[in-house]
Amino acid sequence: MKIGFFDSGIGGMTVLYEAIKVLPYEDYIFYADTLNVPYGEKSKIKVKEYILNAAEFLASQNIKALVIACNTATSIAIEDLRRNFDFPIIGIEPAVKPAINKCTEERKRVLVATNLTLKEEKFHNLVKEIDHHDLVDCLALPGLVEFAENFDFSEGKIIKYLENELSSFDLKLYGTIVLGCTHFPFFKNSFEKLFGIKVDIISGSVGTAKQLKKVLADRNQLGKGSGSITFFDSGHKIVDQEIISKYKRLFEILDETQRSHVGH
Ligand code: DGL
Repeated sequence: MKIGFFDSGIGGMTVLYEAIKVLPYEDYIFYADTLNVPYGEKSKIKVKEYILNAAEFLASQNIKALVIACNTATSIAIEDLRRNFDFPIIGIEPAVKPAINKCTEERKRVLVATNLTLKEEKFHNLVKEIDHHDLVDCLALPGLVEFAENFDFSEGKIIKYLENELSSFDLKLYGTIVLGCTHFPFFKNSFEKLFGIKVDIISGSVGTAKQLKKVLADRNQLGKGSGSITFFDSGHKIVDQEIISKYKRLFEILDETQRSHVGH
């Protein structure tokens, strides 16, 4: 049986990238809801409907686990999904806790995510519960979702966009950036260029991949597959090899961002 990965778009590939590292002998289905992306700019009701439809579809593919590789979708629908399906469902949340615990010095953290994630009560409660010294500042960056969906990773443009969005922030005050949207790790190098190489950049993808492995191991369901990925685009299997190559090239972009982190 395969493992389903779901996102509003290509962002979920950043989580799948980490999963394949720790679970190379699984076979995966990657489902991007590209017809309805971006979720972060839509209403909660609409987005919940999209997520439940996609999950129904993935359930029909006989998956053994589902990863909601989208912070927005997790915050809105994880409880409903767990009520509706009996395979394990693993979500991803903005890594606020690790960010608070990370630096010993009191430098601030900036958390970037979608508008919808930042509006959610669940998110506010999480921050309230652990951010006792008011260290976390939040910012929505919908433009990064758009850049990623257009497969536009041109650094000059991205840095300009970030400079503009962060113009009211005093960047040297920040020691950690929390990437609270799975589309954002593609742009790690641009964040680094802007904030300086010493900034810590964290996301929930490594933790999510580890959790997936643990869940499968606990259920004795680790696979003997080949690491294959079958791609679906809002319910349609992608067969166009050019599009599949485009998706796979995203892993090379992520390799690049990791290389620049060696020794850091
Ligand atoms: N990738 C998604 C996330 O992690 C959302 C992007 C969007 O559709 O707005 O929140």
